[in-house]
Amino acid sequence: MSRDSRIPGFHRLSVPERRRMLGERAGIPAAEFERCIANGGLESITADKMVENSIGTYALPFGIALNFRINGLDQLAPMVVEEPSVIAAASNAARIVRACGGFAAETLGSSMIAQVQLYEVPDIGRAQQRILAATSELLELCARAQPSLVARGGGARSLEVRDLGDGYLVVHLHIECLDAMGANLVNSIAEALGPRIASLAEGKLGLRILSNLCDGRRVRVRCHAYSADLEVRSELGSARQFSGDEVISGIVRASEFAERDAYRAATHNKGIMNGIDSVVIATGNDFRAVEAGAHAYASRSGCYRPLSRWWREQDHLAGELVLPLALGVVGGTLRLHGGARLALQLSGVSSASELALLAASVGLASNLAALRALATLGIQRGHMSLHARSVAAAAGALDDEVELVARGLSERRDVTLRTAQIMLDELRARRCDGGLLA
Ligand code: MEV
Repeated sequence: MSRDSRIPGFHRLSVPERRRMLGERAGIPAAEFERCIANGGLESITADKMVENSIGTYALPFGIALNFRINGLDQLAPMVVEEPSVIAAASNAARIVRACGGFAAETLGSSMIAQVQLYEVPDIGRAQQRILAATSELLELCARAQPSLVARGGGARSLEVRDLGDGYLVVHLHIECLDAMGANLVNSIAEALGPRIASLAEGKLGLRILSNLCDGRRVRVRCHAYSADLEVRSELGSARQFSGDEVISGIVRASEFAERDAYRAATHNKGIMNGIDSVVIATGNDFRAVEAGAHAYASRSGCYRPLSRWWREQDHLAGELVLPLALGVVGGTLRLHGGARLALQLSGVSSASELALLAASVGLASNLAALRALATLGIQRGHMSLHARSVAAAAGALDDEVELVARGLSERRDVTLRTAQIMLDELRARRCDGGLLA
């Protein structure tokens, strides 16, 4: 079994060749690989058990980002995303970072928060005192609500009481969920404890639910890039080229722009989430929860801020990303979704925290790739040439027609469905005449 995440020429292989190669490297028999990925990993009949009023399944592209080295170990990054260039950009940035030691990633805590809301609390101070005095009893109740979690080494660790004003109190239970994302565990504990907490507070019981702002379960990723590896050369003779030093300055200015402006910070963070969400979706995790947590965390100072920042260190570029990231490697979707199981197997991660470190590294790589392009040639050229392939396919191009039509669209700088259809008709007419084959 090989863990090497550098696979030169991978993008030139056909889809069946890529599957065969990845299966051999990960020790997954070909038949099992095919079974996991058939129908996008999910049968209609299973989908009907997962949601209501199901009418089938809905597929998205599933790709693998290469070149990731995280804490000294190579890892493949499974990504599910509809946007062209995201996977190539992440792989490219990971290659640049790899040359400078790879990503250094760590978890900053691993607990989720269960919130129990109380209202019409007559005496806030007395309620706070009574709840805190009953901490041991409440933690014991948590353990009884989820004995199997406790048996595996998880469970509630502590609690805090927050005064929200006007007779509102909220109790936070900090819960270690191990390899689960934890939503069901946390919600069950909140519901089990709610009535006792309300009686201690002598108030009324409101909501009992997890918080997606899981700032007790954050991840920090850092990376460096050599100036020489950041250099940008355009294939167009007339266009500018950018030295590594210019690229570093441009990325640092882009980072400062995001620090100063929420409008830019939102797009900066979107570039990070391109990478993170793709891994989260590929591995069957709840991307809405991750998005909600990331953006709430980005606003924690009262202003919406970038989740990452970039700075110069001698002749290197340095970057850091911190965000809450609650992911799981066990549970509902993974049991049912062959694609999600395959994604986890290919990534080689064996715990929720390893998966979070991988997803965050892909997020930082995506951010680096976007800023490098934006600070130099812009993203449209690369984006449009990949977009041209989708447009060619949408026009009905098959096999090698896709590349030929896409190239024609890019050269004409007219990436529209109408032009793609005209070019495809012309191509087929020429081929019928034997023109291209002659
Ligand atoms: C596009 O999907 C993402 C970017 O807009 C991110 C950014 O602007 O940093 C390119």
